[in-house]
Amino acid sequence: MYGSRIAGTGVSVPDRVLTNADLERIVSTSDEWIVTRTGISERRIASDSQATSDLAERAAARALEAAAVDPIDVELIVVSTVTPDTFFPSTGCILQDRLGASHAAAFDLSAACSGFIYGLSVADAYLRAGLMRNILVIGAETLSKVVDWSDRGTCVLFADGAGAALVQRTTGDSRILSTHLYADGSKGKQLIIPGGGSRHPVSQKVLDENLVKIKMANGNEVFKVAVRSMEDAALAALKANGAEITDIDLFVPHQANARIINAVAQRLGMPKERIVMNIDRFGNTSAASIPIALNEAVRAGRLKPGDLLLLAAFGGGLTWGSALIRW
Ligand code: UT7
Repeated sequence: MYGSRIAGTGVSVPDRVLTNADLERIVSTSDEWIVTRTGISERRIASDSQATSDLAERAAARALEAAAVDPIDVELIVVSTVTPDTFFPSTGCILQDRLGASHAAAFDLSAACSGFIYGLSVADAYLRAGLMRNILVIGAETLSKVVDWSDRGTCVLFADGAGAALVQRTTGDSRILSTHLYADGSKGKQLIIPGGGSRHPVSQKVLDENLVKIKMANGNEVFKVAVRSMEDAALAALKANGAEITDIDLFVPHQANARIINAVAQRLGMPKERIVMNIDRFGNTSAASIPIALNEAVRAGRLKPGDLLLLAAFGGGLTWGSALIRW
């Protein structure tokens, strides 16, 4: 029976660091508020000339190198992003060219902060079905380009970065055991970029009203839904595999807010030392957050063959999901 495994990971983040002290000079906020309410101390911000594909390309190249896979052998590139370089061509197609992955199909996937798990699920389905051998799944964002830098409720949260995984067909035991994906479009307006698409195409009015920027209607409500949804998705992963929380060796949650992660962990009964948390240094990088955190865990030797790895995410859409992986 075919399955899929993560054969290599890679990351790329911009060099520029934006600290909470820097933000104190932009909006009415404080290091103390940001740290206690979110756990974020600093984040990476792309330069004016840096687009999502620039970060994605480096992350993907590093994942290919880690997996020792030639770009020519990649059959599909899935870029999960809500900040593509352009509406079209897709960022996936831009990467396909730049990586020299000339045999690969390519597309972008829009599932906001759940994008990496959605992408992993797509890759797993193709690989399980035996249709392909090597798929690149990339979560990449330059949210700084769509953040309203006058809105202290959002601009302190979001950041830029890219993480990639080369997902490979396998017949071995190390494999993705399950993915669970969910959505609730009825709450879509809670987290939205209202303008710039076909509903409100770019116009002077749309620009004046700042509609091409991230809006979060009620952060507090999003917080509560995020905790419940990530817990539910994690429990669904455990149930589907007859596993207990004590079986999980490492938990890599989406990095939206340290308090969300701690609340989910507490409800699940997950000890702190088994959680990967790097939001203090990278903020919320949406689709990139899980692969960035996962790559960090891999490079730090926190995963060994046979370990049980749990991923869970929540984001705009609303979307949420989980993946359970035998490493
Ligand atoms: O990526 C997945 C989707 N995103 C999320 O999951 C984000 C979920 N939400 C959150 O993480 C939190 O709700 C926030 C971090 C956004 C906000 O934290 P909170 O503890 O829910 O604060 P709040 O929205 O209830 O605001 C409390 C106070 C308000 O002032 P008043 O009305 O009590 O006077 C805000 O105006 O904090 C104020 N505030 C700030 N103060 C200083 C909001 N943002 C800031 C800020 N600096 N940056």
